[in-house]
Amino acid sequence: MRTETTVIREKTAADTEACVALLRRVHARDGYPLYLPPDDEAGFLRPDHQRAAWVAEQGGRIVGHVALHCPRENPTLSAAAAATGLPVDRLALVARLFTAPEVRRQGLGRALLRHATARAPELGRRAVLDVGQRLPTAVALYESEGWSRAGELRISLNESTVLDLWVYVSP
Ligand SMILES: CC(C)(COP(=O)(O)OP(=O)(O)OC[C@H]1O[C@@H](n2cnc3c(N)ncnc32)[C@H](O)[C@@H]1OP(=O)(O)O)[C@@H](O)C(=O)NCCC(=O)NCCS
Repeated sequence: MRTETTVIREKTAADTEACVALLRRVHARDGYPLYLPPDDEAGFLRPDHQRAAWVAEQGGRIVGHVALHCPRENPTLSAAAAATGLPVDRLALVARLFTAPEVRRQGLGRALLRHATARAPELGRRAVLDVGQRLPTAVALYESEGWSRAGELRISLNESTVLDLWVYVSP
């Protein structure tokens, strides 16, 4: 996306600090991610299986983030594989989507989602994702883009943290 003031471009290592700062604000305000590892926020934003990531920038300020992840094994990918009939290695997870609270409802989240979704076929993959069942705003975005709910998951991260997720597949 490129308007007068907003650019979506590939994320670089130099963006790490700004992305972590934005993620902290989103976590405090929206409860996303449901679990943010306190000692490894940067790692949360750049896991080894991240194949591509983009940021949205306005006047030199990072105001949004999205990534494509291709882990070899993952419960969301397994559920999406069962729903689509595609093998896991033909799927990519749209992940780490968030926008700055002060730019919400201006189309940026939709633009980032479309950007990542459109890149998945270039990797020979179909975009899928999971979303916390307690994140109705994100669910509304995915459904308004024609994504289909393909399953649900309950993942226990540790004794006190359980994630209830919907699995969605791109149109
Ligand atoms: C979900 C999120 C990325 C949307 O970002 P955004 O920049 O506001 O997105 P958009 O302006 O493109 O809105 C797209 C659609 O999302 C839905 N939506 C966004 N905010 C909404 C709200 N407050 N209430 C209901 N629907 C909402 C609407 O369908 C909206 O389309 P519309 O404005 O044409 O009605 C943003 O709210 C966010 O960062 N949330 C916290 C992080 C998160 O939950 N990420 C998802 C992880 S799976």
